Amino acid sequence: MRNFYYLFILTCCAALFSCNGTEPPIEFLPLGESPEGFPDIEFPDDNRFSSSRWKLGKKLFYDPILSSDSSIGCFSCHNASLAFSDDKKFSFGVNNAEGKSNAPTLTNVAYHPYFNRDGGVPTLEMQVLVPIQEHNELNNNIVEIAEKLKGIPEYVEMAKQAYNREPDAFVITRALATFERTLVSGNSPYDYVNTGRLNSAMTRSAKRGMELFFDERSGCINCHSGSNFTNYSFENNGLYKEYADSGRMRITGLEEDRAKFKVPTLRNVELTAPYMHDGSMQTLEEVVRHYSAGGNGHINQSPFINSLLLSEKDIADMVEFLKSLTDMSFTTNANLLED
Ligand code: HEC
Ligand code: HEC
Repeated sequence: MRNFYYLFILTCCAALFSCNGTEPPIEFLPLGESPEGFPDIEFPDDNRFSSSRWKLGKKLFYDPILSSDSSIGCFSCHNASLAFSDDKKFSFGVNNAEGKSNAPTLTNVAYHPYFNRDGGVPTLEMQVLVPIQEHNELNNNIVEIAEKLKGIPEYVEMAKQAYNREPDAFVITRALATFERTLVSGNSPYDYVNTGRLNSAMTRSAKRGMELFFDERSGCINCHSGSNFTNYSFENNGLYKEYADSGRMRITGLEEDRAKFKVPTLRNVELTAPYMHDGSMQTLEEVVRHYSAGGNGHINQSPFINSLLLSEKDIADMVEFLKSLTDMSFTTNANLLED
């Protein structure tokens, strides 16, 4: 009887471990380094990594001095605990002015070949100017920000150490981009399984979802491929028949690019709700049901978006898989959080 009792407990433990997954350890990456299995992070020739550049960039990222009324900063819409995104459909800028698209995560932006959902900005350095000038974001002017910083001895000293010049537009854009390039995430339960470090890091359901995700049947990896779960192409994933936002067409002027958006990363996607360029979907389950149904047939809808007829179990497993891309060593890394 006693043996039977122990056997029962053992079976329960085994069942628990295989179903719930083991929490992977929290491991912080050294700054500027890429996670196992990822390409190296490229720092441009005129903006090599240094810790003084990074420190200045981090200080600017968390400083509301960047906004015209000193009320908000980059951190307001790119919140570290939400994987550097926010939980709004559209973010609010200075004077509570509502934006026009959903704030994306900054997870692994170092790897993006171009920026914003329409891909209209070629470098991270140049992207900094967009939120600074947008009326419904920081509503400011970089020259005025530089003037303010020149009056603050700590910033003058930091700019000198980092770039050997006064705080100016060059320094502000370069330093912020340096900090952003270190927002690197690759230590999720999925990564522990994928690199063979901890096979029990994912639940059985998540592993089934992973098989489905990488299978031809779902077609997800026609777009969400590679270590960052995006091929960075511009696609229409069939949200509507008619879109309010013209997307990539804004940049190219081509009808064939209407309502196409940059394929987003799926890393930390559990934390970045609501979803899509317009924040129109609240949950991952809603997203997976959308793909299962096959899209609403916009004229530019990708041929890879088709009805999948997923079962309820498939849907639940796929959601579990997407949740296994959440990297706690990214969102709790004190290096990246506000000091
Ligand atoms: C008021 C909210 C808000 C603030 C403040 C803000 N952003 Fe953003 N950010 C957004 C939104 C919304 C987008 C998406 C814009 C688009 O693509 O249409 C975005 C996009 C980005 C992107 C592009 C990401 C990608 O996947 O291509 C980067 C990088 C970025 N922001 C960095 C910053 C930095 C650096 C600051 C501070 C200087 C900042 N943001 C301030 C809302 C904000
Ligand atoms: C044809 C390319 C394509 C395919 C195939 C595809 N996606 Fe997407 N996915 C996109 C695009 C583009 C977006 C963003 C659309 C937008 O911004 O409105 C997106 C958005 C998402 C989002 C929301 C991410 C966010 O941060 O808002 C999730 C989750 C997602 N896809 C999961 C999947 C899954 C799971 C599959 C397979 C069942 C899949 N995708 C197949 C192109 C694709």
